[in-house]
Order: sequence, then structure tokens, then C-alpha cells
Amino acid sequence: MNQLNWHERISHLLEAYKENHSLDPHRLQFHLMPAVGLLNDPNGLIHYKGAYHVFFQWNPFGTVHGPKCWGHYTSQDLVYWQEHQPSLVPSEWYEKDGCYSGSAIEVDGDMVLFYSGNVKHEDGTRETFQCMAVSHNGFVFEKKGPVVLLPEGYTSHFRDPKVWKRDGLWYMVVGAQTFYQQGAVVLFASTDLKEWEIKGTLAGSHLNGLNDFGYMWECPDFFELGEKDVLLVSPQGLEAKESLYQNEFQSGYFVGKWKVGTTEFPHGEFQELDRGFDFYAPQTFEDKAGRRIMLGWMGITDAQESYQPTIEKGWVHALTIPRELELKNYRIIQKPVPELKELREPKSFKYQTSLKNETKTWHELEGIVSEIKIEFQQNQAETIKIEIRKNLMIIYDRSLSRLTLNRKRFADGRIESRSCFIEKLEDLHIFLDTSAIEIFVNGGQEVFTARFFAEDNEKEIIFTVDGQVDMELEKWNLHLQKRL
Ligand code: FRU
Repeated sequence: MNQLNWHERISHLLEAYKENHSLDPHRLQFHLMPAVGLLNDPNGLIHYKGAYHVFFQWNPFGTVHGPKCWGHYTSQDLVYWQEHQPSLVPSEWYEKDGCYSGSAIEVDGDMVLFYSGNVKHEDGTRETFQCMAVSHNGFVFEKKGPVVLLPEGYTSHFRDPKVWKRDGLWYMVVGAQTFYQQGAVVLFASTDLKEWEIKGTLAGSHLNGLNDFGYMWECPDFFELGEKDVLLVSPQGLEAKESLYQNEFQSGYFVGKWKVGTTEFPHGEFQELDRGFDFYAPQTFEDKAGRRIMLGWMGITDAQESYQPTIEKGWVHALTIPRELELKNYRIIQKPVPELKELREPKSFKYQTSLKNETKTWHELEGIVSEIKIEFQQNQAETIKIEIRKNLMIIYDRSLSRLTLNRKRFADGRIESRSCFIEKLEDLHIFLDTSAIEIFVNGGQEVFTARFFAEDNEKEIIFTVDGQVDMELEKWNLHLQKRL
């Protein structure tokens, strides 16, 4: 399929979508999702010439992982987004089976993208090329072809270049698999972005005290945060261990101190970024105010993917809200960007209450698209349960110091759980969209992200407390309408 074909076919699909999208109750209100087809990783995040650009892995032709192009959204404020023609579609031999994930930088007023050209052969083997494309306006790109070829010692699972500048030199990290089936992140350096010198393995499944920590590491991102350096990565092949690594694949980070320019990056333990069901392949960027902002794919490649009810409507998956990152005691704290307050309707429901061995709900708490803050002032309860729209249940067990999120499985409606250790539950900050939830715990110390698919009439949020708790609730309905 040549470039023209892609654009023509996508235009037809979008026309068809315009006619029936209003009938779909699960389309999200303030999260980014594709009009049609399958969305996965956020790509090329950048603040460029006054606009935020979010590109994403997109198969417009079906709700499966097929050929991928780069879909494209822009925003002035991280709240209201405009969709554009895809910016990279496979047109050349070195990317014939997909323009896979990558990143964006600004150089002398141009936007420069780095991405993986994916080539599949009939015998099942594949090739990968790390490619570059340049644009004067952030919309129309000129492809410059491969700039990094597969180095020796790695399999063709070598992809997702992330490029940045430090102390006057350009660096690139690439997600990789060694010949010994170990996940790794490979570091390159360049003075001109065209010639790249391989430095070696920056981190990996067999380095820095790790042992067999995944067979492939996808989507690396490497940046300074506070006084430290942080490596985000999405390892594949971790075995579930107690409450850890419960999803098919994981996303998390290592905190350490990089000896700039070298492959020396002594780091601490891997820590998961999200405790929920649907979070993978996040990417970050620094905006003009110096904030480190992250978006993740609110989905994951797993057995449940094909059971999502939106597939019937021709689309699947979404991105998380933008989250600002900070480092505190070697841990990443995630906060929804404050710009999202713009979505709040002016009047909130604010309520101070004390619950004792009871089940309670408030009509004002009902809502399909809302933001809810709960502050626990005195918590003597053995358990606090918050049922949301009959599909989700947040449970805090004080004696176990454990926070759990239950949800109905898409495949068969049975309950599945994710949980993590929370020494003392202080607050919950919940973003609820038609078919997605993001729960920020204790000021963003932990986050649970999940999709769920409730019926329209399932609106209630019900508290059940065993023991006594004093708390303050505040709830806003959210609305995607610019107020003048
Ligand atoms: C992660 C990933 C990347 C790859 C992209 C293809 O979800 O597998 O490694 O570049 O998706 O869409």
C-alpha cells in the first residue's frame, strides 16, 4: 500500500465513523482515542511552536495489531485536542510493515522524529531500522531513511528510539533483546543526528544486580528528574510475584545516576508505574515550563484485548490523561496536570461526613464523567469499599495496609484484582470517564488505571465502611466545553 492509499483509505473510514460514533456510549470524553481502529503507544510527545503534539501508534484498518502509522493530535493546553492526518504512514521499503514507536525533538526550528521502520518477511523473520523524518511545521514530514542499523549482539526485536540532548551531544536509547534473549536498553551518541555511535548496553535484564528480568525491553525513555536520572522501560516476560507484575507486560522505572556519555548507570530496583489493569508503553517529554509530563497507553496487548466491547463499534484503546512527574525519595510521584481543572463544571459537590459501619451513597456523587477527591481525615475503619458503577470496587484493608482495585473481566464478568501496599490511606483523586478510570492515591504515590464497561444506568458510587471513617468528598462533573 503506498502513502496515497493510506490517506485515501483513512479518509473513507473517517467518513463512515462520523455517521455512527454518536451511538457509542463508551467513547471517552476527555481521553484521547482513535476514531476507528486500534491505538497503542503514545509517540513523539513534544511541545513545539506553541502546541503540544501527541502522536500515537495507530492501525486505522482494524481493531487488531496490524500495520501501524503515526496518528496525530495537537493541543494548546493539554485539555482540548484536535486530530490531524497521520504524520508518518508506511511508504518506503524500510518501514513497509509499520512506522513503529519513537520520539520527537526540536532542532533549529524543525521537528525531527525518530521511529522504528518495521519489515516483516514471508518466512516469519523481521528487520528493524531506526529512521529519521524532518518537518518545518510539525505536520508534513520528509523521511530521511534509516540512521541506525541493527548492531551485532541483538535480535531484530530492537526498536522505539528515544532521542534527547545532554551537555551538547545527542543521545538515543533503543529497546532491545540480546542474542541470549535478555531485555536491554542500548545507548547511542551523535553530534549531527545522522551518524550514530553505539556506546553499548545502558541497562538490561542481566545487569546491575538484575537476573533474567524479561526477554525484551520495549519503549525506553531516559531523563533527568530532580537530582537523579530515570529510565522508564516496558519489560516483557516478568513473572507475576505476589501483587507485582500482574499484567501480561509491565511498565516501570529505574532511578539512578548516569555517568553522562557512558553506559554507566548504577540504579535501584524496578518499580511499577501503575498498579491497575491497563497501562503500558508510556513516554515523557519536558514542556517549556520545565515540567516532565507523561502519557501512557491505557491498554495492553493481552488475552482480554479482543473482548473489549468497543471493538463492535470499530475502535479499541485510548491514552491516559497527561500526568506530571516528580521524584520523591527515589520514587516517581504522578499528578494529573493542573490544566485539567478547566474541565470542571463551576459548581462542585462538597461534603464532610463520618461513616460508621454503614453503606451509603449520594445522588450528587453519581456521574459518568467526573472528578472526585476523597480526603480521609480519620480512618479507624477495618475496610473501606467504594463501588463504582457496578463494575469497579476500590477496597482499602487497614490491617493489611493494602489497596485493591477489583473490576469485572471483559471476557466473562468474573472479578479480577490488582493491589498494592499503602501504609496509610490519606486521599484518593479519581478521574472517571465513560469507560475509563484513573485513581491517584496519596497525592500520586501510586496510580491505578483501568478501562471498564458499565451500562448507562449504572451510575452509583457506593461507600461501605466497616468501622469508622471521617472524610471529605468533593466531586465535579467534567465537561469538554470551552467556557467563554
Ligand atoms: C509497544 C510496541 C513497541 C512497538 C509498537 C508497535 O506496545 O510493541 O515496541 O514499536 O508497540 O506498534
